[in-house]
Amino acid sequence: MKAKNMIPICQVRLTEDEIQACCDVLRSGNLREGEKTRQFEDQFATMMGVKHAISVTSGTAALHLAYFSLLEPGDEVLVPAFTFISTASMVMLSGAKPVFCDIDPDTWTLSVEECERKKTERTKAVAPVHLFGNSCDIQSIQSFAQQNKLSVIWDAAQALGSQYKGKSVASYADIACFSFYPTKNMTTGEGGMITTDSDELAQKIRALKSHGESDRYQHPSVGFNYRITDLQAVLGIFQLEKVQQFIAKRKQVAQYYIESFKNNPAIQLQKETSDSNPSYNYFSIGLQLDKLNVSRDEFVQQLKDEGVQSAVHYPIPLNKQPCFESSETLSVSESLANRIVALPIHPYLNHEDIEIVANTINKLTS
Ligand SMILES: Cc1ncc(COP(=O)(O)O)c(C=O)c1O
Repeated sequence: MKAKNMIPICQVRLTEDEIQACCDVLRSGNLREGEKTRQFEDQFATMMGVKHAISVTSGTAALHLAYFSLLEPGDEVLVPAFTFISTASMVMLSGAKPVFCDIDPDTWTLSVEECERKKTERTKAVAPVHLFGNSCDIQSIQSFAQQNKLSVIWDAAQALGSQYKGKSVASYADIACFSFYPTKNMTTGEGGMITTDSDELAQKIRALKSHGESDRYQHPSVGFNYRITDLQAVLGIFQLEKVQQFIAKRKQVAQYYIESFKNNPAIQLQKETSDSNPSYNYFSIGLQLDKLNVSRDEFVQQLKDEGVQSAVHYPIPLNKQPCFESSETLSVSESLANRIVALPIHPYLNHEDIEIVANTINKLTS
């Protein structure tokens, strides 16, 4: 039997001009961080409406440097349990302790009430995640942080192009961290960016990403090598020009799904945070398992059989990952992890594909 063509969950298509630009860098022999990297950082900062953008090798490296620049050993950081591992693992590798908080049952982003409950005198920072591109309740988190004198490190890996109150999510202090992994809204292969308006933090992070060097072979502190090359930067420059078009397409796909599922009692949609304008890096649904005769994994298999690729972000909340040795029970995160499914969303889905995905899901859940 001929295998069905799968509708892919995400897709990257590089154009000839992007490939040519990479070839030009290769031919030039300038493979380290150079002029193209500076240009990429400047254009990123302008697009985000921030003073500084510092390129790094990944979103994970961005988080590592952000935490490392702000935390001391023994500090605690409030982290949502429902996120990708590096939001919390990089806290640990900076010598601090992630304290897991539950998420809001509707928006699936960090619950401020949980932060209030979990804070201690050792709490030094909060690390909210703009999950799937839906911004957190930035205003409430900022006032919680101000009242408790905490730094805020925004994990914006999935939120390039997302806005809150009409401004980019990067424009809210202290630091925002982005990822350019191929599943993200734009890509440089691997890559990441840190944004901040603070001159002091920017200077510190720039030094930390390159061996703690202030001047050539002068090392006031120790640091890492998290530099990108001009090869990634040149790709980033092209992708930045296209990212608004990519996001516009993602929004169209998301609107179609929302319209298709809004009256389906077996499907929970992620509620947009008020004042948020999401970029829809991912589109996940929460299955209402009590209204279905299948488990989430059986549902994923049924989708596959119908030619629709899906994924599960995330099957295990971080409070249940053995590496963190946490004894917390966080009911919203744990329930969502059992019933969440991510659907195809990317700029190259045609109308027929979107219709097939929506119709298949409605059929399987009716
Ligand atoms: C929420 C979140 N944080 C951090 C990261 C880490 O980014 P990277 O894969 O570029 O290291 C990701 C990427 O998957 C992510 O989705």
